[in-house]
Amino acid sequence: MRGVKVSLFGFGNVGKAVARVLLEKERFFRERYGIALKVVSVADTSGVVWLPEGIDLQEALLVKETFGKLSAWTNDYEVYNFTPEEAVEEIDADIVIDVTNDGGAWEWHLAALKADKAVVTSNKPPLAFHYAELVGEAERRNVPYLFEATVMAGTPVIGILRENLLGDTVERIEAVLNATTTFILSRMEEGRTFDEVLREAQSLGIAERDPSGDILGVDAGYKATILHCVAFGPITFRESRVKGIGGISQEKVREARSRGRTIRLVATLERGKITIEPREIPVDSPLAVESHENAAVIWTDLLGELVVKGAGAGLKETASGVVSDVIKAALRIA
Ligand code: HSE
Repeated sequence: MRGVKVSLFGFGNVGKAVARVLLEKERFFRERYGIALKVVSVADTSGVVWLPEGIDLQEALLVKETFGKLSAWTNDYEVYNFTPEEAVEEIDADIVIDVTNDGGAWEWHLAALKADKAVVTSNKPPLAFHYAELVGEAERRNVPYLFEATVMAGTPVIGILRENLLGDTVERIEAVLNATTTFILSRMEEGRTFDEVLREAQSLGIAERDPSGDILGVDAGYKATILHCVAFGPITFRESRVKGIGGISQEKVREARSRGRTIRLVATLERGKITIEPREIPVDSPLAVESHENAAVIWTDLLGELVVKGAGAGLKETASGVVSDVIKAALRIA
C-alpha cells in the first residue's frame, strides 16, 4: 500500500463534496489502486486544520456543517492562521488540492510546484491567466498539474485533449461551457423570468455565489481559455471576446423556439481566437444541452467531429473531476 499525503484548500460546497468522496471511497481506492490517501490538512477562510497523522474527515464535515467554519474545531486539533502560501510551505504534502475561488491562487500553485508538490485544481483563474507559467513549471519538474474539474466538471474533456488525440491537430471547438446560462435560457423558454430562474440556479448550487461571472460570460470565457490552452497552445482570458446573456429577452428566446431553434451561450475556439456569445442553434444540435449539461464539439484533422457531452456543474460532478485527478497524481507519485 502506497501512502499519499493530501492538503485540501477550500472547504465550501465543492471541498465538502470532495471530502465525502475521499471518505466514502477510501476502501475502493486502496483495493483498486493500492493507494492510501491521507488528508493531512483542510483549510477554509477561517483557518487551516493540520494534523500530520491524518485528519478525521467525518469530524471535519460535522464541524463545518454545524458551525459553518473550521476554526470552531478545537477538540484535539490545532487551527493555524496560515496564508495559503505559508500553508503550502509548512505542510508536508504530496498533493495540494485547490477547490477555492481564490483569484490569486496561481502564486501558491507555483510555490507548490516549485516545492515538487503535485497540484489538482478546480479553480479557473490561475489557468485562465497563468497557464504557460504553471504548466511550464510542472513540465520542467515533471510534477503533475491537473485541472480536469475546471472545465465541464468531471466530464473528461481536458483528459481527451491533453492525454488523447495526441497525433491529431485540433482545428476548431464549439462548446457550451456554462450551466447557469443554459439553465436560465431553457427555463425562459418555458415562460419563467430571468430573476426567478437565476435564484433557482443559485439554490441548486449551479450558479456561482456571485453569479455575475456566469451571466456576463466570464465563467464560460475562463473555461474556453483553458480549453484553448490545451488544444491550441497558451493564451489568456484577456485575449478572448466575451458577450453574456444580459441582453436576451424572454420574447427573443421564445421566438427562436417557435422557429425550431434555441439560444445558448456558445464558445467558439480556433487557434489564437476565442469568442463567447449567445447564439441561436437548431434544437437537434449537440450544443442544444439542457439543465446542468455542457457539450463540446471538437473538429480534428484525423478524427473529424467528436462530441463530448455530460454534466458541466454540480457538486459530486465536480468532485468526480477533482478526485480522478487526485488518483492520477497519486499513481504518478507512488
Ligand atoms: N457556475 C458554473 C456554471 C459552475 O454555471 O457552469 C461550474 O463551473
